Amino acid sequence: MLYGADYNPDQWPEEVWPDDVRLMREAGVTTVSLGIFAWSRIQPAPGAWDFAWLDRIIDLLHEGGIAVNLATATASPPPWMTTAHPDALAADEHGAPYWHGSRQHHSPASPTWRRLAAELVRRLAERYADHPAVVMWHVDNELGCHLHEDFSDAARDAFRTWTRARYGSVERLNEAWGTAFWSQRYGSFDEVFPPRKAPFIRNPAHVLDYKRFMSDTWLEVYLMQRDIIRAAGATQPISTNMMGAFPPADYASWAPHIDVITDDCYPDPLDPARPLTTAFQRDLVRSLKRGQPWILMEQATDAVNWRATNPSKMPGQLAAETAQSIGRGADGIMFFQWRQSRAGAEKFHSAMLPQAGTRTRTWREAVALGERLAALGDLPSPGDDAPVALVFDWENWWAVEGEGHPMTVDYLQVVRDWHAALTRRGIMVDVVPPERVDGRYRLAIAPFLYLLREAGAEALARFVAHGGVLAAGPFTDVVDDNDRFREGGFLTQLGPVLGVAFEDFRALVPPDRATVAERAGEVGSAAAGASDERAFARFAGGIAGAGTILAEAIWADDAEVVAAYETGPSTGRPAVTRRAHGDGSAWYLATQPSPETLGAVLDALIADAGVRPELDEVPEGVEVARRGDLVTIINHGTEPARVEAEGTLLGSDEPFGARTLAPQEFAFVLAPREPAPARADLPLEARA
Ligand code: GLA
Repeated sequence: MLYGADYNPDQWPEEVWPDDVRLMREAGVTTVSLGIFAWSRIQPAPGAWDFAWLDRIIDLLHEGGIAVNLATATASPPPWMTTAHPDALAADEHGAPYWHGSRQHHSPASPTWRRLAAELVRRLAERYADHPAVVMWHVDNELGCHLHEDFSDAARDAFRTWTRARYGSVERLNEAWGTAFWSQRYGSFDEVFPPRKAPFIRNPAHVLDYKRFMSDTWLEVYLMQRDIIRAAGATQPISTNMMGAFPPADYASWAPHIDVITDDCYPDPLDPARPLTTAFQRDLVRSLKRGQPWILMEQATDAVNWRATNPSKMPGQLAAETAQSIGRGADGIMFFQWRQSRAGAEKFHSAMLPQAGTRTRTWREAVALGERLAALGDLPSPGDDAPVALVFDWENWWAVEGEGHPMTVDYLQVVRDWHAALTRRGIMVDVVPPERVDGRYRLAIAPFLYLLREAGAEALARFVAHGGVLAAGPFTDVVDDNDRFREGGFLTQLGPVLGVAFEDFRALVPPDRATVAERAGEVGSAAAGASDERAFARFAGGIAGAGTILAEAIWADDAEVVAAYETGPSTGRPAVTRRAHGDGSAWYLATQPSPETLGAVLDALIADAGVRPELDEVPEGVEVARRGDLVTIINHGTEPARVEAEGTLLGSDEPFGARTLAPQEFAFVLAPREPAPARADLPLEARA
């Protein structure tokens, strides 16, 4: 178990360093991420290199028994660089440059930046590849964090190269982007630009490819640095810190190139669903490399400084959040940062060692946590713990939230709503792209899978054919990889599996939006909420609930109608269908159940799939997660919670039994999992 923080000794006089190492030992720190923003200290001027200070601090840490996750220091180029080379600057959608004075102002596509960054990384890697303190490499920092999109000339040139490689000829690009529409036909790749500021809706296929390009560009930066580090003979694992469901980076496509997944997570203390939101993030990052532990590379010991209001954590919250990470697969707990900065944009951000010193609650909690983690010993690897696959796909995220659609959808929120309902029931979930849905899962849920690649559709169909239970929809299987309708209508790939055919989308009005007609009657008053009938489509039958976002009109040609709409634009039509398929089944949800009624639909799905929760009873506010034989139980609530569980407390023979967990209290329980019954052995009534 790694324990430690980002360490920025370049912000401090050397006299402080021995004190740092002494206090790190006191706090149980095993590892620090070193020098993440140290470029201007390492290379104070073109051609001037200063590694002596870095040699000294690495040696000092090593003597103190602290290992180093060595950063490549490329995330904030020094002012000399962007002054001499303005072509290294990134630009906004107007083409206006971002300037130095903060961080991450460079264009990741700029050949100048890449050349200078490559030299820095090469020198670092050659110097420290064999240093016994270095246990890992930290490439750049949160690639793309502040710069989701770059519209610089360097990005323009790289985008042309990227589109040329993807399409080969401009005719193919025209076909893929549907440029016959609005006179957008390109005569050559030299006419292709990143989708800069435009008067109206931009070509969705162009925008989608540009998002792919940006994600690929950041990945290229990672690969460039990884290759340099390896070429220098380094054998340590290499990683770059991710940010959970971070919109611009398709981490599912990055993961195969990264030795160990590392993630940064800053729970919002004002988010009422905080423990569920973070449970989703941990499950997402764990699912990137199934069966492998990951490292929490950054969390805050207490308050952050970059939201509008930054309250402290509750007493015990830090330990409870840490337990959540471990329970969901983390083998390393690290912070931003070791010692609170005295100057600069983050001086109010908490750290392990606060500006107010060691008499603080934050310090005591950091020390106590270090002791507790050191006592854990070896933990089982996360394995085949999750019976449910929740489909989440970045390309689809980019496409489904595009402009010019029947409605808007917050895709991440919908996926999180499903995840929250499963988590509340104590059911483990992997969060994966459709291609990764396989026979190890019993249930797969795929909402709003608008852009469905052929390989994804094939995997979902195979999953059902082999006995899995699939719940797809709504707004699923609508377009191909280029955001074009496929030939033959909608649900062209999954329709035969689901036994349904598609007529129309029929958007509902978001509950907080007045329709134009309603507003017209209320000029001068605050906009009224949409009437219930326009916002919700109620459905009933085998399941009852209220649909939101869309009330699609479908035909259940070859499927049982589980529930039909009772209200809304598709009244009388099927709202939920099920097609039995051998041991498996395929459900179509023609509407998105409201958060209040989603549980009723989910209960039917988990019964059909024979999925069982980790605990028979999961009280409100309590989280339960499995990691191999280890079950983590956490009370995130504000009231004590009574929990009953089989198994013994980790590190002792004491049975957990039935106990009351105080708010923020948690327990690690060793409880070997009983093998789940084969689907065919389940009584039929439990399956349907
Ligand atoms: C990010 C960065 C860190 C620091 C923290 C502050 O995670 O990687 O350098 O800025 O945010 O919360």
